[in-house]
Amino acid sequence: MLTRRHFLAAGTAPLFIRHALAADTPRFALGIASGHPRPDGMVLWTKLTGDALPERVDVSWEIARDEGFTDIAARGVEVAETAWAHSVHAEPAGLQPGRWYFYRFSALGQRSAVGRTRSAPAADAEVSRFEFAIASCQRWDHGHFAAWRHVAQEPLDLVMFLGDYIYEYPWVPGRVRAHSGGYTRTLDDYRARYAQYKSDPALQAAHAAVPWLYVWDDHEVENDYANARGQTLSGDSFLAQRAAAYQAYWEHTPFPKSARPNGADMRIYARHDWGKLARIHALDDRQYRDPQVCLPAGRTGGSTTVLVKDCAALADAKRSLLGAAQEQWLADGWDLKRPWNLLAQQTLMAHFTSRDPKSADSPGGSAWTDGWEGYPAARKRLLDGVAAKRVPGVVVLGGDVHANYVADLKSDFDDDKAPVVASEFCGTSITSEGVAQERLTAALAYNPHIKYGRSDERGYVRLTLSARQLQAQLRVLDNVKDADSGIRTAARFVVDAARAGVQNA
Ligand SMILES: [Fe+2]
Repeated sequence: MLTRRHFLAAGTAPLFIRHALAADTPRFALGIASGHPRPDGMVLWTKLTGDALPERVDVSWEIARDEGFTDIAARGVEVAETAWAHSVHAEPAGLQPGRWYFYRFSALGQRSAVGRTRSAPAADAEVSRFEFAIASCQRWDHGHFAAWRHVAQEPLDLVMFLGDYIYEYPWVPGRVRAHSGGYTRTLDDYRARYAQYKSDPALQAAHAAVPWLYVWDDHEVENDYANARGQTLSGDSFLAQRAAAYQAYWEHTPFPKSARPNGADMRIYARHDWGKLARIHALDDRQYRDPQVCLPAGRTGGSTTVLVKDCAALADAKRSLLGAAQEQWLADGWDLKRPWNLLAQQTLMAHFTSRDPKSADSPGGSAWTDGWEGYPAARKRLLDGVAAKRVPGVVVLGGDVHANYVADLKSDFDDDKAPVVASEFCGTSITSEGVAQERLTAALAYNPHIKYGRSDERGYVRLTLSARQLQAQLRVLDNVKDADSGIRTAARFVVDAARAGVQNA
């Protein structure tokens, strides 16, 4: 273990030694990150980079109460191994709840950048204000990560990343920037893709500024995959790809060691309490779902948009998006005492039809089979459970669909008089392109519970929570193709703790 005196000595090394180190291969080129804050600690992440790394490397870490690292709270050494891509997942324990810290790593004569992180409040602490952002869908070749530069400057306690951290697609000509390599299939492919994404300085800045809570969606593995079924592969051959993708995911994210994947299995669904203010239920809608139904002839995987009248299987009550075990876990874990239950999950939960459900051509409307609309019975079970237990302050947070949606959630969307039981903010993408706005605008007429729908906005949603109210600001980039783009607030909404449903602010 390095002592504090060693660090001070390193910091005052003669100039010629520092020059020699600077000429070395950068060993922390993908930056640092922290995540999954608990009242007594969090996970501190980095990964060694560059050629000729020994099979096992000692990496020292330290976490301090001050930016100058004069007041050290904890320190230790982790072994970074070739088998796990020299990733480091340090888990300091015994920290004070509800306070900010600074952390850094050192190895092979080099020191990482300094990151800022915080612990969660104690479970029984009064919390007057919780500031967080939701973000998702950062397809590299669709734009620059300017949004992350703005996230890094917001006064946030936490970023919730709701899926599609990488995309598996190959290089495409004519884009603002290019994926390197082909489709990701192998462990090396996925590692290389993370290395490309995590080289972005704006993304690194957002990680260094604030801890993140993660869930994944499909593109961390493959578009629209469902459990053991990919778009083309399925069964063991797809599970081998899923295992590679999950391993690379864990290697590049600040999940705890306890979440390290075992083959093609990695548990990411978890609960996080933020003092007496909120319980966050982080969900996984990919790993355990029943496959999408009513595929077109000749397809063996993926999703489609169908007319409800043509797809009787949609109504099958046995089908689940979360899987039976996770559904039960969620039903058992609603918090009836805290004013807020936040669902950190992947995609739009609100009913959405792009066709007129009252038309003779399309009675019942249409359904995109990959989202909650493809699992209507599971959605109804969830929302009926919220209504039956009178779960307070249920707010569904999502991403995936590359549009800002703000919606009221009802257990019966076809009944205008059915009560609103929860509220939804499905945030738009960091970069990934959405459908044409004219199509979305036309569809909004058939979905009156959706109060806002914009597919032509890129950015994130900033949320401020108090015991009385949730305030939301839709933060939207001026130009996603400009790395230095400015940002503005396109709309504001509130949710009162005493009454489910979104209101204009
Ligand atoms: Fe996406």
